[in-house]
Amino acid sequence: MKKIIYINKKIGHFNYRKINVPGDKSISIRWVLFASLANGVSKAENLLISEDVMAAINAVRKFGVKVVIKGRFCRIYGGGFDGFKFKNNLILNAENSGTFGRLILGLLVNTPKPIKLIGDKSLSKRDFKRISDPLSKFGAIFKLKNKKNLPLTIYGSKNLKPIKYFENKGSAQCKSAIIFAGLRTKGTTKIKAKKSRNHTELMCKYLGLPITVKNKKNYDEIKVSKVDKIKSFNYKIPSDISSSAFFIVLTILSKNSKLLIKKVNINPSRIGIILILKKMGANIIFKNQKIYKGEKIADIEVKGGKVLNSINCPSKLNSGAIDEFLVIFLVAAKAKGISYFRDLAELNQKESPRLQWGSKILDMMGVKNVVTDSSIKIYGNPQLEIKKDILIKNYLKDHRVFMTSIIAALTFGGNWKIHDKDSIKTSFPNFLKIINELKR
Ligand code: S3P
Repeated sequence: MKKIIYINKKIGHFNYRKINVPGDKSISIRWVLFASLANGVSKAENLLISEDVMAAINAVRKFGVKVVIKGRFCRIYGGGFDGFKFKNNLILNAENSGTFGRLILGLLVNTPKPIKLIGDKSLSKRDFKRISDPLSKFGAIFKLKNKKNLPLTIYGSKNLKPIKYFENKGSAQCKSAIIFAGLRTKGTTKIKAKKSRNHTELMCKYLGLPITVKNKKNYDEIKVSKVDKIKSFNYKIPSDISSSAFFIVLTILSKNSKLLIKKVNINPSRIGIILILKKMGANIIFKNQKIYKGEKIADIEVKGGKVLNSINCPSKLNSGAIDEFLVIFLVAAKAKGISYFRDLAELNQKESPRLQWGSKILDMMGVKNVVTDSSIKIYGNPQLEIKKDILIKNYLKDHRVFMTSIIAALTFGGNWKIHDKDSIKTSFPNFLKIINELKR
């Protein structure tokens, strides 16, 4: 299979096209985990079938859970909250998935046998101490490579103690792992958590699990206690706003273009990109809004071609846009004036150091920018046109670096050679198919 994409022509205008992007990755992984712990058969429609979600499915299969996938449909035959079967010397491979790799550890705090967790080159560079620290307080024991990386081995405890924890990174993965561990532990676990996506809390509430959430201005207070039974449940997974983001930006940067993206999850903790782009003057509206199992869903209509203003981005919008900054930087490159994004150290903790990558792509495009460990200043130019050769070699095969490069190539011009096409299998396998449909 061809692994390099060459682009030397901008995309033509596309007018009022409708697209569907795949199911939300965060919700898909959470559904797989909860459904595998439920009693009985749960069904999902529009589950994201990508490598990250398959890592979760392959792992629950190793615990003896039956999973059947047919096209966009999936059935999981859960064996109950304590139904996982633990073999000796079990190794789970989280591949590229930080979400699966971190969430599953919360469910394994009482594993009766040690379990080894491994991942790919990118995941093996990422921080797992942020998970092993709080989970050790419950009583689980961890051995990690370099005290913070994969491979790690978790040794569960029979005598778990509830904890009080301040999650101060704004990481939904940490918060969710602690919630999962709290569901396994007698007593009440109390978490004060900096704002981050709340799909785990909403799924727990929908399932009637013992969780309470108090929303404060800058953080949430969450209390969770032990659960013995989860009822099986069906779920229609809404489309992923993080996948939609590439097409929102493609439209914004393309003259005379208009796009409707159907049935997207617009959970308020995920719409940072919309709030940021609207502040810059973008024309984006939500249509047909509804609530489904606690999650907000809408069609997103975007009109493109307008010159946008720069932004001094308030850091309170960061967590809701954390996976979207690479494409947001492209919009800033074409905006009027200097944009500033700060308090973004977490961006370098992703599948690759994305703040550095964002700056590198802008450098290659000839866009002046000043980057630090936690901020970037981008000098926008509404007349930006690229005329040179650009080579993107994405050594950690970050799916969002690949897709951002494609959007830049299709909107700014130049001769692009973009490596690592296979990386889209992580989150958005039909990304290039939708791009090709819009070209027609
Ligand atoms: C995710 C949380 C975020 C996000 C990731 C998915 C989740 O990571 O970047 O892509 O599903 O919980 P952090 O929790 O590390 O911020």
